[in-house]
Amino acid sequence: MRSVTVTPIDGWSPDQYERFRSERQQPFDDLLTLCHPVEGGRIVDLGCGTGDLTRILHEEMGAAETVGIDSSPAMLARAQADFADVPGLSFAQGDIATWLDEGLDLVFANASLQWIDDHLNLLARMRTALGADGQLAFQVPANFRHPSHVLAHAVANESPFIDALYGDVPEDRGRFVLSPELYADLLYELGAKDQVVRMEVYGHELESTGEVVEWVMGTLLTPYRKRLSPELFDEFVERYRERLIEELGEREPYFYGFRRILCWARFG
Ligand SMILES: C[S@@+](CC[C@H](N)C(=O)[O-])C[C@H]1O[C@@H](n2cnc3c(N)ncnc32)[C@H](O)[C@@H]1O
Repeated sequence: MRSVTVTPIDGWSPDQYERFRSERQQPFDDLLTLCHPVEGGRIVDLGCGTGDLTRILHEEMGAAETVGIDSSPAMLARAQADFADVPGLSFAQGDIATWLDEGLDLVFANASLQWIDDHLNLLARMRTALGADGQLAFQVPANFRHPSHVLAHAVANESPFIDALYGDVPEDRGRFVLSPELYADLLYELGAKDQVVRMEVYGHELESTGEVVEWVMGTLLTPYRKRLSPELFDEFVERYRERLIEELGEREPYFYGFRRILCWARFG
């Protein structure tokens, strides 16, 4: 297995994202536990990122073919460099917002659908990609009211950032993530025979409050990294750190409680 370092021109940095690999894997493991094996079947992993969890998904489910789809060249380059030689596993660039397929045994998405706007249509499209007895499984963060999220938006509205963003502040993704009961309703309306939908709080003991900044740099702050110059992005992060510590206090360790919604459904 070899690794490459890729400049995060698209905002996503594989190294930054993987700093909290074990914490990020916990909800993935829980979602995987809900899925039934698809021996010899076909899987798609939407928003596969660096591909390490896609490989586990592929092997644990016993699939013949698993394709990881991601829009980020940097994340895909890491996935391809590390896992291109795993039989049946491949990666392709694509946009979840327009992605289509058919006859799949499992459509899986861990921590990626929050980047897509219209979940009603998205779930309907994911459903049409399934074959007989197909499964749909996804996990989305639901932590949008935590100061770590709220403050990113607040700092973006301060000068000089708001001017550099020309008023085009990255949207609060919490607007697009639905409630657990709405996901359950939608899955039912789409014809789910069985389903599990649950909200869970994952408690992470980070070394200090400042580590929250490192955490969000791997995900939430990616649209800011993409839109601001490197110098202004650094300034943005420092201002964000200052406000976060003001709000949460300088704590060592810091307990980061992170709400997530897990959904699994099986169709006829
Ligand atoms: C938080 S990471 C999750 C990665 C992986 N699923 C995991 O659990 O480690 C979100 C991924 O979604 C990808 N992504 C965001 N928007 C996307 C889109 N519209 N189409 C495809 N991939 C997208 C990002 O590039 C990133 O790799």
